[in-house]
Amino acid sequence: MIIVIKSVRCLFVMGLILLVTQIVSGCSGIYDGEKLFFQEGCSQCHTYNGRGGRMGPDLTAVANRRSAGWIDKYIHNPQKMNPQSRMPSFIHLSSAKRKAIIRFLNE
Ligand code: HEC
Repeated sequence: MIIVIKSVRCLFVMGLILLVTQIVSGCSGIYDGEKLFFQEGCSQCHTYNGRGGRMGPDLTAVANRRSAGWIDKYIHNPQKMNPQSRMPSFIHLSSAKRKAIIRFLNE
């Protein structure tokens, strides 16, 4: 009986630790920018370090020509900055996710 109680308590503590890690990483915005670049479909149109599509410009050295703030606004709503833009807007992406992608583009 004691063993059962102990293992239940142990499971509970482990669950709690998992939950806390999830919350902390969600709040501090620790996203994997590289993963998002591929998951969100940026790579369908853009190449980064030789991987990806060709419809849009190669983003390997984009950090040398554009500031992080500019890229952030462009991802959020390209048409607002360039009415002729053929890039879809990514309004659904949170600021933390955009920042993670920009961090990746700066690598
Ligand atoms: C459907 C194709 C498509 C997708 C998907 C796409 N883009 Fe674009 N992107 C373009 C095109 C085309 C341009 C060239 C200018 C324009 O038409 O807006 C561009 C321009 C850019 C620029 C400006 C580059 C420069 O040097 O001026 C950045 C930065 C950028 N895209 C980032 C992204 C990111 C990050 C994602 C994913 C969240 C993404 N794009 C998804 C097509 C796309």
